[in-house]
Amino acid sequence: AMSQPVLFGGSELAPASAPSPEAERAAALRELLHAHAHRYYVLDDPSIPDAEYDKLFAELQALEAAHPELLTPDSPTQRVLGKVLDGFTPVRHAVPMLSIRTETDTEASGAEAFDARIRRELGLTETDPPVAYAAELKFDGLAINLRYEHGVLVTAATRGDGEQGEDVTQNIRTVGQIPLKLQGAVPEVLEVRGEVYMRRDDFEALNQRQREKGEKTFVNPRNTAAGAVRQLDPALAAQRPLSFYAYGLGQVEGWAEPATHSGLLDALAAMGLPVCEHRVVAQGADGLIEFHRRIAALRDGLPFDIDGVVYKVNSRAQQQRLGFVSREPRWAVAHKYPAQEQLTQVEAIDVQVGRTGAITPVARLVPVFVGGTTVSNATLHNVFELRRKGVRVGDQVIVRRAGDVIPEVVGKVDAARERYIPNFHMLRACPVCGSAVLREKGGIDHRCSGGIFCPAQRKQALLHFAGRRAMDIE
Ligand code: IVH
Repeated sequence: AMSQPVLFGGSELAPASAPSPEAERAAALRELLHAHAHRYYVLDDPSIPDAEYDKLFAELQALEAAHPELLTPDSPTQRVLGKVLDGFTPVRHAVPMLSIRTETDTEASGAEAFDARIRRELGLTETDPPVAYAAELKFDGLAINLRYEHGVLVTAATRGDGEQGEDVTQNIRTVGQIPLKLQGAVPEVLEVRGEVYMRRDDFEALNQRQREKGEKTFVNPRNTAAGAVRQLDPALAAQRPLSFYAYGLGQVEGWAEPATHSGLLDALAAMGLPVCEHRVVAQGADGLIEFHRRIAALRDGLPFDIDGVVYKVNSRAQQQRLGFVSREPRWAVAHKYPAQEQLTQVEAIDVQVGRTGAITPVARLVPVFVGGTTVSNATLHNVFELRRKGVRVGDQVIVRRAGDVIPEVVGKVDAARERYIPNFHMLRACPVCGSAVLREKGGIDHRCSGGIFCPAQRKQALLHFAGRRAMDIE
């Protein structure tokens, strides 16, 4: 049910007279805005300038203000609305939201073990052809059930315990990538399941803004996305840029489901839902291993975090034969990659002088394998952040390394220190050139005041000049 504090003049209830020119214009504007939003948010290929979109949007808003009976729940004007909630209403899932078994063996043998099990359970012998699998990414966000009735988004719920989740419709409506209305011929009821996540660049930009304001930074994109979805104030949720990928179904009525998982994802994409392009139909264990390897090489360059890949038996008929064990389908498995967060110990806290003279505290660490490489240095960003995290030499810390982002210390493990460890203090003089270290009033960063006199700044400036983003000298 709609929890919006708005009354909608549902078109189904309208008398069977010819629609007014205003009603026709409003409907046309809604269609146009939906189509443009799909091009912009889902296909990342805008078809009109932002200003043009804003003009159409304002026209619809004005129409709806003058004729409230024209307002519909799927109107693009209804994304960021609603009131601050006291709590979330529980939602019972029509079809339970399951989880998938995890293959902890991160090597190729993990895929072989899965394929061997599937073949055995399907009663296949060596002479039978390879099983076809849909291979896709395991997005590191949180699962959401989107309920569309006659193509209109009516409820969005979290997974909860799988049986019962929470109604987070108000917050989910603020996610531009999630269509308020599906395209084309749509089923009576279609529950789409997928992952809400935060892109790495959106996460970094959010933390950068927090840092500039001297406020607490967020730990990782997944926690931030989960926090935003469970935010009681929808206006705050709207300020956290979230994204979405569809990967499955819940309840369906009035629709002949495609015969394969890959066909299902194609159908969802055709309805305007975001579906990740990194997916294949893989043949047998060899196909799975190849996908696992290819995505491992791609992982750092992806714009979002993944913690593995997922293999699903592609044929729905075969899925049904395999069925479920406890709360997990027998026909799917998550094949993990090395974790992007690890525990290690701080051996020392040094500083680094950057191109613009910014002096960054850096933790020297007991080397640790994280996100696919060995990390022995991680940034602490600035003294304020270091103090807030309370990190001292000898502490156990969590290090995060995701993609091309510089490895960072996200926090420490709370444990009593065996002896007194002094706090880190910013140097008064640049460790490289001896010039005074200054900080602008109200600023966050300390800087070496030496300019190009400082060999560290000179070296970094030269590297920057020659680098890929400037002269691109090989
Ligand atoms: S399918 C019946 N596909 O992983 C299978 N899940 O433990 C239901 N996840 O809660 C899940 N990417 O939040 C599926 N491509 C993907 C996924 C995916 C991430 C998450 C999801 C789920 C958990 C499974």
